[in-house]
Amino acid sequence: MNWRDGFTIPTSNLYPFQWNWDSGFIALGHYYANPAHAMRELDSLFSGQWENGLVPHIIFHSEHEETYFPNFDFWHSNVNPGAPARPKSSGITQPAVHGFILENLLDKSPDDQDLLAFAKSLFPKIVNYHRFLYDYRDPHKEGLMFIFHPWESGRDNSPLWDESLERIQIKPGDLPAYQRLDTNIADPAERPTAEQYDRYVYLLLMGQRHRYDGPGIAEESPFLVQDDMMNAILIKSNESLIRLGKRLKLDTAELEEWQAQSMKSFKEKFWNDDLQMYTSYDLRGEKQIAMKEIGGIIPLYAGIPSQEKAAALNNHLQELHASGYYLCPSFDVQSPAFDSCRYWRGPVWPHMNWMIYHGLKQYGFQDTAQIVKADTFEIVDKYGFFEYYEPEKGLAQSLKKAYGGANFSWTASSVIDLIHNP
Ligand code: DGY
Repeated sequence: MNWRDGFTIPTSNLYPFQWNWDSGFIALGHYYANPAHAMRELDSLFSGQWENGLVPHIIFHSEHEETYFPNFDFWHSNVNPGAPARPKSSGITQPAVHGFILENLLDKSPDDQDLLAFAKSLFPKIVNYHRFLYDYRDPHKEGLMFIFHPWESGRDNSPLWDESLERIQIKPGDLPAYQRLDTNIADPAERPTAEQYDRYVYLLLMGQRHRYDGPGIAEESPFLVQDDMMNAILIKSNESLIRLGKRLKLDTAELEEWQAQSMKSFKEKFWNDDLQMYTSYDLRGEKQIAMKEIGGIIPLYAGIPSQEKAAALNNHLQELHASGYYLCPSFDVQSPAFDSCRYWRGPVWPHMNWMIYHGLKQYGFQDTAQIVKADTFEIVDKYGFFEYYEPEKGLAQSLKKAYGGANFSWTASSVIDLIHNP
């Protein structure tokens, strides 16, 4: 239903174009029905890659959809001469999942010659994307990338970003008039607030002033964060590309250098002993963002924690399970900022569960992995393929539907792939 002759939209109306990290998970689902579509999906995404290596967070293959703001005419990606004229795109990125997705596809069919040829052609493009992240998003050369917009994290309105966004004080006349469209389609109570949107627009326009890749972004942006999840995903994809490169006899020296440094800095900078979890780092405020949040669990999937730290993350999930929550709520259920229906401030997201499931299995926590999987199947079975789900089991009982968009592509993909993973 969501296939659009070459790429897949996340859901109709609310997200009518191609989204970066959605595409990665969506490719997994396509593989089972039509492997050619899995390859087309990723090819279409990388057709929007910029000369500097950036893979934008939205690719506007169609210029006729009018249900989304900010559309291509608001992004003006042509402020950067290296942005392709077509397809048009946004000027920011999203989690770099494509390295591990590509390896996962090849693992499903290691001798498929079409897939092998495809992997060889995509490999240098993904490496170029990672090079962009290290060259343009790591001013102190720590091996850790920053983001300058919450949309890049994929976890748009997480309470993690509240303090950074508070630094942006908008006065009347600071922003051009704009019309949100998401709240016409999804319930406003399940979406970011108006204040948050103003700040998203502010940061978009700030990025645009710097052609979306200028050094002025790191100097000026009030929102400048090294997100633990984005960096863990980058590390996971590096690792996959290194293995793939060896298998395909391609050069991996640069990847290995990045990987060693990223891994070292990640471990030194992001673990929080009090929380017993990884945290993101606020580069502008020069401090950890000390909150328990789902991004702090994803390092499991990247093989970053020691067995002891992995056990702490596993305990955290077991406690949530024992206290009546579906795994895995996207934010700390004990926090006053927790909001069980509002996007990334609490709800469960199936593609996150996909990563956590695999992470738990890698560390031998079979029981918890099976709970994550069973919970995912239960909520999808009850409500259908929604964007996100109520985590409080008691409250979920009384609901007729889940949250955000319906018929959601990466939810379906994650479920299909989990079905094939015992
Ligand atoms: C949205 O529009 O809500 C997206 O998450 C931003 O990419």
